[in-house]
Amino acid sequence: MKVAVVRETGAGEHRVALIPALVRELIDKHGIAVSVETGAGEGSHYADREYEEAGATVADLAATLSGSDVVLKVAAPSVQEVEGLPDGAALIAFLSPFENLDVVQALADRGTTSFAMELIPRTTRAQRMDALSSQANLAGYKAVLLGADTLGRILPMFMTAAGTIRPGKVLVLGAGVAGLQAIATARRLGARVEAFDVRPAVKEQVESLGATFLEADEDVTAEGEGGYAKELSEDQHAKELELIAAHIHDADIVVTTARIPGRSAPLLVTDEMLQAMRDGSVVVDMAASAGGGNCAASRPDETVRAHGVTVLGPTNLPSELPFHSSQMYARNIATLLLEMTAKDDAEDAVPHLALDFENDILGPACLTHGGEVRHEATRARLTSEGA
Ligand code: NAI
Repeated sequence: MKVAVVRETGAGEHRVALIPALVRELIDKHGIAVSVETGAGEGSHYADREYEEAGATVADLAATLSGSDVVLKVAAPSVQEVEGLPDGAALIAFLSPFENLDVVQALADRGTTSFAMELIPRTTRAQRMDALSSQANLAGYKAVLLGADTLGRILPMFMTAAGTIRPGKVLVLGAGVAGLQAIATARRLGARVEAFDVRPAVKEQVESLGATFLEADEDVTAEGEGGYAKELSEDQHAKELELIAAHIHDADIVVTTARIPGRSAPLLVTDEMLQAMRDGSVVVDMAASAGGGNCAASRPDETVRAHGVTVLGPTNLPSELPFHSSQMYARNIATLLLEMTAKDDAEDAVPHLALDFENDILGPACLTHGGEVRHEATRARLTSEGA
């Protein structure tokens, strides 16, 4: 069995799907051959030499892909890249199916078996493969650093001969994986932190990080299934906006991370709220790429000045920490790869791809197989967009 690691081609994508340590593990422990495209690890500071020392073959794209059973990537390939995949090879990557319907169609047309990292269920057994979480965790950290760097004020309390500076305030909206890490990071920087989420279950986690969990006078909760939120009713959304408005005016940094899978991001920071904020404050909208974002003024990958507030909408924060995001992603993807690999008992047996769609992780994570789009919601989207 041979896996191929190709160089990422998307603008601003510095990550790589496998790092040398994981290459070594796949080769030495599991008997899987690994081929890496020249320069694939460059953007994340892993040299070709390190891959070779780990036992991989480092070659150009054609040689890397040739004869491979599985192709590993970080971001979705282009339609053209799909056409260049070897016959019968499976693909694993973040495929963002809703944003890449043409790629999904190309994968189905090509007969490629593809697995989307974002479709891995958030279950206990799948935790080591949960790349959405590993990357969101790093992104939450980076969002606060970015906010702090943009802010012309400091966050910790300073008591000096030149006077005392009170600690700054960070408001975090949405306390899932990214939000909790944002809270922890802001606390480490010495800020006072307030946070809100529509899932009351996270209150305890927020408080254990030393932040204040905001609570509305009336019910603004929408606990969904599998640890996700549901959409709020219009009335509840209005109540949520009132609560945020009461706390946002003196925030130095606001980090927004609210989302409901498959829906547009809820609007949480309105234009009026931006007007009420102090000049020089910063909003980091982590959901800027998800249908309008959480902040009225945010634009994907742009810096916008609105009423004296700097609004950032970075869409690929993990790529700004490529060394560690690749390290964590590599563990996630290698674990998924091994989940679909089998080896007979015989001493000289070689590993092979064993696709079992009854498997509680492989089944849901499979996007296309045998010329069909297996993921129901994506299939529905394709049908409605094609109509
Ligand atoms: P998550 O699903 O773990 O957390 C989202 C949280 O938002 C949940 O706790 C949910 O209850 C909460 N929420 C939903 N509706 C809300 C509302 N109306 N008000 C307050 N809270 C609400 O997701 P995760 O992994 O933490 O990611 C958060 C966001 O960050 C997503 O939009 C994701 O796409 C984005 N993200 C962005 C990155 C970037 O580079 N910009 C990188 C990684 C993730």
